[in-house]
Amino acid sequence: MTTIRCHKCPQRAVIRMRQHRLALCKDHYPQWFIEQTQRFIEKYRMFTHQDRILVAVSGGKDSLALWDVLWQLGYEAEGLYINLGIGGEFAYSDESQQAAQKFADQRRLKLHIYHVEERRGESVPAIALRTHRGRQKPCAVCGLIKRHTMNQMARQLGFSVLATAHNLDDEVSFLFGNLLSWNLRQIPRQSPVLEAEEGFVRKVKPFIRFSERETAAYSIVRGIEYIEEECPFAEGSKQLQYKDLLNRLEEQQPGVKLRFLLGFFNAMEQGFIHPIEDEQGEVILNPCPSCGQPTSTGDLCATCRLFEEN
Ligand code: AMP
Ligand code: FES
Ligand code: ZN
Ligand code: ZN
Repeated sequence: MTTIRCHKCPQRAVIRMRQHRLALCKDHYPQWFIEQTQRFIEKYRMFTHQDRILVAVSGGKDSLALWDVLWQLGYEAEGLYINLGIGGEFAYSDESQQAAQKFADQRRLKLHIYHVEERRGESVPAIALRTHRGRQKPCAVCGLIKRHTMNQMARQLGFSVLATAHNLDDEVSFLFGNLLSWNLRQIPRQSPVLEAEEGFVRKVKPFIRFSERETAAYSIVRGIEYIEEECPFAEGSKQLQYKDLLNRLEEQQPGVKLRFLLGFFNAMEQGFIHPIEDEQGEVILNPCPSCGQPTSTGDLCATCRLFEEN
C-alpha cells in the first residue's frame, strides 16, 4: 500500500478526506480542524469571545473534542455532564462521567454535573419504566430529560449559549429520518443555531459540518481519552440504520452527506421551507408552574409531567 502524504508537508497523512480532496498529517490535521471550527462559528454567527458557553459533554469523542477546540480557541467554555443512570455490564453513565471529569481536570476546566437519580430520585430508565414510555428503550424519555436539563442548567448558571457536539452524521441521519416520515414540525427547526427565545437559551452546533470519522480522528490525534462505547440502548436504533445507509452511499459518492445538509440549509435560507403555524396562529408559551420553563401545554411541561405520573 502506498503511503499517503500530508498535502502541507512531507509527513505521512493520518486522515484522507475524499470529500475535501485533502489529506493531512498529525500536526496539520488538528490545526485544520480548529481553524475550520472557528470558520463555522463565524459563518453561522454562533458566539463571540464575549459569550459564556456551556458545552454539553457526554464523555464521547465529539463533545470532548468540541470542548477541547473551544478551549484552544480561547473561548470561555464550561462543561455540563448529565448522569442519566444508564448501567449494564459496562457502567455507561458513570464511566462517561469519569472520562468527562478527567478531561476537565487535566485542563483545569469547570465541569458541572447533573445527576438525574440524585436530583430526581430515579434514574432515566426507571422513569421510562414507571411512566410506560419505553419498556425496552428509554431513549425518548432520555432525550426529553436531556434537552430540558441542558436548557435549565444553562439558564440557572447564567450562560448565554449552549453548545452541543452534534456532527454531520447526526444531522444528516436526523434530517433523513424526518424526511422519510415528513415530520413537518421538526424539519424547519433543524439548524446550526437556534436563537434564544423567551425561556430558551441560544443553542449552537459548531461541529455540524464534521463527520464522525473527522471528530474521532481529532480526538485520537490529540490524545483525548473518550468513551468509545455507545449507549447500550442505541443498538438497532433507526438513527444507526440511517447512519449506516448514508455511510454506504458516501463510499460511492464522496461528499453526498455534506451536500445533502448544506443544500437543506440553503433551501431554508432561500425561504423554501417554512415553520408551520398552529391552527390558532402562533404557539403561546407559558412558564411551567413547577419548573418555570416555557411550555405550550398551558400546564406542567412535558418533563415535569413525567414526575407527576404514576
Ligand atoms: P445524542 O443526543 O446522544 O446524539 O448527543 C447529542 C449531543 O448532546 C452530544 O454531542 C453532546 O453535546 C450532548 N450530550 C449527549 N449526552 C449527554 C450527557 N449525558 N450529558 C451532557 N450532554 C450530552
Ligand atoms: Fe439516552 Fe441512550 S443516551 S437512552
Ligand atoms: Zn503536515
Ligand atoms: Zn416543568
